Amino acid sequence: MTKVAVEFTLNTREQNEFVETGSTLLSALRDRLGLYGTKAGCHQGTCGACTVIIDGEPHLSCLTLAERCRGKDVTTLEGLAPAGALHPLQQAFMDGFAAQCGFCTPGMILAAKCLLDRNPDPTRDEVVDAISGNICRCTGYEPIIAAILTAAQGLRKPARKRA
Ligand code: FES
Ligand code: FES
Repeated sequence: MTKVAVEFTLNTREQNEFVETGSTLLSALRDRLGLYGTKAGCHQGTCGACTVIIDGEPHLSCLTLAERCRGKDVTTLEGLAPAGALHPLQQAFMDGFAAQCGFCTPGMILAAKCLLDRNPDPTRDEVVDAISGNICRCTGYEPIIAAILTAAQGLRKPARKRA
């Protein structure tokens, strides 16, 4: 199989990978780069578990050709917060028991991050719409929606001034 070089930014770092022509970003992330935060569910664009952020928008990595990421800015769950820290969305999911098996969680969080980046004060309906492509088989969605709204509220608070 032919391999092609793809230069892109992955979690703020320049990346230069040789990928097989026709292979998916999902495969590159998990099989080549060992980034298992991106989950492989249906492989056909229906579950949302493989959601990553590309140039600020949510994309299904199972339907994205790796070679089409040339020059793009890709963020996976691993790039959301500095090592050892939690992004406010991750914290809110943990505090609000919004993850049970956790399989849908990375995709949910990345879809929610895209929403909050463009709309810091979403309505409940806007949250529901933002995660409508992400399937959760465990939670019934309510804790997830609540966690996203909680994270949004926290992110809107101005940083406390030092005395
Ligand atoms: S694995 Fe990509 S949408 Fe299910
Ligand atoms: S927590 Fe199990 S699929 Fe969502």
